[in-house]
Amino acid sequence: MMLEIRGLSAHYGRIEALRGIDIAVDEGELVALVGANGAGKTTLLRALSGVHPASAGAVRFEGRDITALMPERRVDLGILQVPEGRQVFGPLSVEDNLRLGAYRRHGPDVEADIRRMFQMFPILAQRRRLPAGTLSGGQQQMLAMARALMGQPRLLLLDEPSMGLAPILVAEIFTAVKELKRQGTTIFLVEQNAHAALAIADRGYVLETGRVVLTDTGTALLHDARVKEAYLGL
Ligand SMILES: Nc1ncnc2c1ncn2[C@@H]1O[C@H](COP(=O)(O)OP(=O)(O)O)[C@@H](O)[C@H]1O
Ligand SMILES: [Mg+2]
Repeated sequence: MMLEIRGLSAHYGRIEALRGIDIAVDEGELVALVGANGAGKTTLLRALSGVHPASAGAVRFEGRDITALMPERRVDLGILQVPEGRQVFGPLSVEDNLRLGAYRRHGPDVEADIRRMFQMFPILAQRRRLPAGTLSGGQQQMLAMARALMGQPRLLLLDEPSMGLAPILVAEIFTAVKELKRQGTTIFLVEQNAHAALAIADRGYVLETGRVVLTDTGTALLHDARVKEAYLGL
């Protein structure tokens, strides 16, 4: 397994936000973690990025224990997160946002990768000189994903890319996520939008108040009666 999370717990003061999480992601997989607001999805991604400490358990990445590794070292290993709410640099141009995504790299291949991002997301090419803050929500999500790709991720962590987007844009973003998987990026996607996430995921996990309560293939979870009732409004 590329990523192995074993018995992971995390706290905010006395509040236990994650309670013994076991999750694994294999190289090349697209794995979704779905759960309601407050279930602990963002906390888990923050623990994987190293910006929130684990209070118990372990995280292994490509065979190595990274539980106590500094966030920058995890970026160097290729673990890159697209944060909740995109967080692009609003006053900077689209192109400069992309360049910032490559800040730990050097050399001419950065410019080639920027051209590759513009091919993948043509709307960003059209807006390359505009401040990122002038983009729509869907375009900012594309920029946030492209910026993370500029860091050459081995494992891409996506925190609710569909948040606040109209259904047509959600479909566009998830098409882009599928395309990234097709190109070989390993993806761990956390979402409240269980339907959209499970529909594209190889495998999925359901998180409730800090615990994994169900896991199966994406398709099986989509058709699971408990998931339908609790998350799909069916
Ligand atoms: N900075 C914080 N301080 C205290 N509690 C927090 C903080 N951030 C999140 N929590 C709590 O931790 C739990 C999990 O939150 P979070 O990981 O943001 O969930 P999700 O991303 O699934 O909506 C929630 O009960 C939330 O209220
Ligand atoms: Mg969240």
